[in-house]
Amino acid sequence: MQWTGLNELREKFLSFFESKQHTRLPSFPLVPIDDNSLLLINSGMAPMKKWFLGQATPPNKRVTTCQKCIRTPDIERVGKTSRHGTYFEMMGNFSFGDYFKVEATKWAWEFVTEVLELPVDKLWVTIYLDDDEAFDIWTKQVGVSPDRIVRLGKEDNFWEIGTGPCGPCSEIYYDRGPENSCGKPDCAVGCDCDRYVEFWNLVFSQFDNDGNGNYTKLEHPNIDTGMGLERLACIMQGVDNLFEVDTVQNIMKHIMEIAGVKYHESEKTDVSLRVITDHIRSTTFMICDGVIPSNEGRGYVLRRLLRRAARHGRLLGIQENFLYKVVDTVIQENKTAYPELVERQDYIKKVVQVEEERFSKTIDQGMELLNHILDELSASEVENARLSGEQAFKLYDTFGFPVDLTKEIIEERGVDFEEDRFLELMNEQRERARNARADLDSVGWSDDVLAGIDEFGFDFLGYETLETPAGVQTLVKNGEIVDSIEEGDEAIILLDKTPFYAESGGQIGDAGSIESDIGVFEVFDCKKSATGHYMHIGRMKTGVVQKGDKVKAIVNMARRKAIMRNHTAVHLLQAALRRVLGDHVHQAGSLVEPDRLRFDFSHFSAVTPEELRKVEFLVNEKILEAIDVSTREMSIDEAKKSGAMALFSEKYGDVVRVVGVDDYSVELCGGTHIQNTAQIGLFKIISESSVAAGIRRIEATTGFGVLGLLDEANSTIQQAADAMKLGDPHELVHKAAALTAQLKEKDRELEQMNEKLADTKLDGLMESAMDIDGIKLAGTVFTGTKPEMLRKIGDRIKENRPDMVALLCSFYEGKPSLMMVCGKDAIKQGMHAGKLIKEVSAIAGGSGGGRPDSAMGGIPKDFPPKQLFEKLPEIIRSMKK
Ligand code: ALA
Repeated sequence: MQWTGLNELREKFLSFFESKQHTRLPSFPLVPIDDNSLLLINSGMAPMKKWFLGQATPPNKRVTTCQKCIRTPDIERVGKTSRHGTYFEMMGNFSFGDYFKVEATKWAWEFVTEVLELPVDKLWVTIYLDDDEAFDIWTKQVGVSPDRIVRLGKEDNFWEIGTGPCGPCSEIYYDRGPENSCGKPDCAVGCDCDRYVEFWNLVFSQFDNDGNGNYTKLEHPNIDTGMGLERLACIMQGVDNLFEVDTVQNIMKHIMEIAGVKYHESEKTDVSLRVITDHIRSTTFMICDGVIPSNEGRGYVLRRLLRRAARHGRLLGIQENFLYKVVDTVIQENKTAYPELVERQDYIKKVVQVEEERFSKTIDQGMELLNHILDELSASEVENARLSGEQAFKLYDTFGFPVDLTKEIIEERGVDFEEDRFLELMNEQRERARNARADLDSVGWSDDVLAGIDEFGFDFLGYETLETPAGVQTLVKNGEIVDSIEEGDEAIILLDKTPFYAESGGQIGDAGSIESDIGVFEVFDCKKSATGHYMHIGRMKTGVVQKGDKVKAIVNMARRKAIMRNHTAVHLLQAALRRVLGDHVHQAGSLVEPDRLRFDFSHFSAVTPEELRKVEFLVNEKILEAIDVSTREMSIDEAKKSGAMALFSEKYGDVVRVVGVDDYSVELCGGTHIQNTAQIGLFKIISESSVAAGIRRIEATTGFGVLGLLDEANSTIQQAADAMKLGDPHELVHKAAALTAQLKEKDRELEQMNEKLADTKLDGLMESAMDIDGIKLAGTVFTGTKPEMLRKIGDRIKENRPDMVALLCSFYEGKPSLMMVCGKDAIKQGMHAGKLIKEVSAIAGGSGGGRPDSAMGGIPKDFPPKQLFEKLPEIIRSMKK
């Protein structure tokens, strides 16, 4: 047996099974497609359930893959031991009703002993208790010695994970020698210690588990095998654990370099190094497959992993954001098998960086708060004092601490928390959010009622026509199924055929009418029920409609055409954005209405006006090229091969609809589109803004919407021209410039007038000055004089009257300000404007200060300045030398 790198091992496995007529498929994405039973793919067979159950046909009855997997139940233990991890790859060979136990067993042995050349005397095999057939195959056909075969119970040798295909299994173990044994007298195969490593599980998949303990025998027995790639690499590289495997170790080295620490230096830093190494692997792959951090579902798993890693970065003493840098090494080590990582490198790094930045903003404050609470708890006399639900919620809500992180930190200090109260607060928050977005969907009654009638099928004809004869299948009024509805009734109608598009994929539902000879029903909206029925929601305008009636279903054509223009424009917009901004642009949401369109996408800074202009130009260029829009149905694989853009989060059936504008834009889409881009008319961006970290939003309009914008702009211009009494709006610019110049001139004139006025006041001021033991004291109040002007007047006083002390008060825009000046001689006599004003304004409860010759102050609005003047003589006397 020879040292083999992880990437090379993967290749050896896949090509071995290719040589046994298996089709090699790339790893499925980590996000399950069409399967709600699972957040993230956790085994090689998970994405193939439908093939096992006979619900869909695989490309070949023999398939081999190396599947990216995430398992998080042990997340708290990751780092603390060197055995646990959240991310791993599982290699497998699969038979869908083709070969069974004999071949699976033989080939496994062949690969292990002949390709990998593992020494036979280190290998052990386990089988399910009463599986004599497996025993015979191993001993008689493969040639394994019977004393090397161990029978184990359901716990070990019956494979199932959640619901779905399962069955008895047989496992191959590698003996790492007595030096790795726990030393217990009964240490043998199956012992949980480090001596016997189970590395390949051959599942003889024969049952379907419905999750309630009911096992149905499958029509064809299948083979499902799983060999942990990292585990096998440990064996082949002669290392103890996953973190020592070549590619994983390289990731850890990068972290050590950033942190300036070494592995095996201290247990504490080792824990952090392992946490970060493992979590950055899983998060890089998750983001690549379309998961974005959020507070729910898989987005929450991602957030939790990233934040846990970020916290351990702090524990290692790394102050800056660093995780995004390590992403480079993860990609470097995995790019041969997963080229999509390279394609999305910038995007992945950006998502990591944004999340890290968000968390760093609050992590220190959160930790401070938490440490403070923990210190108080340990100092308190109360026995078993716990962190309150409110405190945990605050850490979550304000400081972004995933609750599991809080739990982990408090556990380290031996403290518990009020989980029930925390959950209650979380629920209240959810409830508030839900109430804030109540809409027709949440009227609940419709779905409940329709749940019982899923036996009716119907045809959707809305791609080809906007009007069709149809039959009324079901009527719902006030939450109940009724036989007829009449004038004024608000109701839902289900038809056997419909041209109405039901809201989905961001495109809003159609409006229109359902008409018969004796009644007209106005359709305001069309939505899908939980059972997939198209609900025509609206009101009976005149007459009656009865169950079974023959009617005409008519979509409001102008409205629908406007929607189609906007939908095709969204596709062109996405294509243009990718060209101008880069391939990291992915759709994060969209809304297509008749009047406007909205497109949310991943991008990490504001789109500049120049970029927006380019995008707008590109879209309009495609419109003016008058390109036919094609819609084709094909298999999902064909679609992907043709390079169609798909939404990460969307579920697609086996047959998908692909909408194309040449090869400029090719997208999987179920929406309705115009036939030729020229029908869009024109495209105009209205706004660009941010919706969340790393997500931008563009709003735009097309066709008549652009005409509307032009009309609006013209009418504003006309109104402005009218207001300025201009006959011709073209004179507007000239006139506006002239008016601004005129205004400026007027301002200047006004200022001059004010100065003159001030001069006049000044003369009066000088004359009315009082004499306080040889110092001349004057004071006055100005209104409408700017504080700058006050300063000018002050300067004039100082220039003209060296023996004068003056207090000037001005009310400008209702706000009083004070100015105090002292002439040269007055200063010689001990006067100091700064000190004077300080005392004077203090009388009014205000404040002030400044130089000996000049100072400013402020007082409350309603304080009469006269009272200040009255106090001045006394203050001056006391200050005089
Ligand atoms: N599905 C089996 C496992 O995950 C092979 O172990």
